[in-house]
Amino acid sequence: MDRAELIAYVRSQGDGVVSSLGRDGAPQAAYLPITATDRAELVFDARATSRKIANLRRDPRVAVVVGGRDGTTLQCEGVADLPDGAERERCARAYLGAFPQFAASLSDEGVVLVQVRLTWARYGDYRPGFSSSAEVPLLVIRRVRADEWVLARDLRLDALRDADAGIAFLETYERASAQPDELYRDRTSRAAEGDDVAQLVAIDGDTWVGSVTVLVQRAGTLDYRGDPVERSRAVVVGVYVRPEHRGDGLIDRLLDAAARWSRERGFDALSLGVHQDNARAQGAYRRAGFAPSGVRFTGSIGPELEMVRPL
Ligand SMILES: CC(C)(COP(=O)(O)OP(=O)(O)OC[C@H]1O[C@@H](n2cnc3c(N)ncnc32)[C@H](O)[C@@H]1OP(=O)(O)O)[C@@H](O)C(=O)NCCC(=O)NCCS
Repeated sequence: MDRAELIAYVRSQGDGVVSSLGRDGAPQAAYLPITATDRAELVFDARATSRKIANLRRDPRVAVVVGGRDGTTLQCEGVADLPDGAERERCARAYLGAFPQFAASLSDEGVVLVQVRLTWARYGDYRPGFSSSAEVPLLVIRRVRADEWVLARDLRLDALRDADAGIAFLETYERASAQPDELYRDRTSRAAEGDDVAQLVAIDGDTWVGSVTVLVQRAGTLDYRGDPVERSRAVVVGVYVRPEHRGDGLIDRLLDAAARWSRERGFDALSLGVHQDNARAQGAYRRAGFAPSGVRFTGSIGPELEMVRPL
């Protein structure tokens, strides 16, 4: 099953069992009408006062099982969100497309719409004559390929237009967008091969949604700030996740991929610099196992602190 087939399967089944975590951590399950958006998020509605909404507000992790009746099932895990604004409209369109009979309930103020971004899914087929179970490729994290320099450049330019770009990246959009293609070709081909730099990208279907780059700084050279490097180290730079994937755990997966790549090359720590005012990035790094090393410095974007994750 691929992503498009997952969407079609959820829509054809139209219901499933949603499990959330109660206050004491015990699982609680409910059977509900469920559909899928074009981006493969699951959507259902529930009363704002229900147990499951209280649970999801406290801990957004959910497990969902769709199907089962004919011997096929889709087991899913994901992160729930109660969307508003344009996101809610997009989910509401998917929901009403599947369940026009529930239009009145969606306009009821006591009912909330829940969107689940899937982090994992497995399709099983145990109909007579079948016996298979396989993970559905939802979102892939892998090293960039040399010929993908246009996609890499587009993601970078989008990152540089982010509201927080001024406290996140050393480069400006104006400067980066004026660079010749050759620079991006060269940068991407170096990040695609070898042991000095690796760009790891997250691809959701065919959309590039996030990226981290690991730079290896060798002892005896100068680092990107121009300071001498005393001990070879692996440093994460260019951390970016598109807004629609923030808060869904993608950054943890990207940082795990960076950690794996570095560990495989013999490093025992991964470090990075983060602006002292970039509280969101610091929060994400802390959760991913980074801690402040005590080193502080002032770079071109202002005061930064170093954070390190032991590998
Ligand atoms: C930095 C970035 C990759 C983090 O990814 P993310 O998906 O947004 O991160 P998450 O939401 O998973 O984690 C952020 C954490 O900080 C917390 N947080 C969010 N805003 C915060 C704030 N203003 N103050 C303190 N903590 C905050 C969140 O609660 C969360 O911690 P928790 O999981 O312990 O609750 C992403 O926001 C991004 O691309 N930002 C723009 C570019 C950027 O800043 N890059 C980093 C350069 S160093």
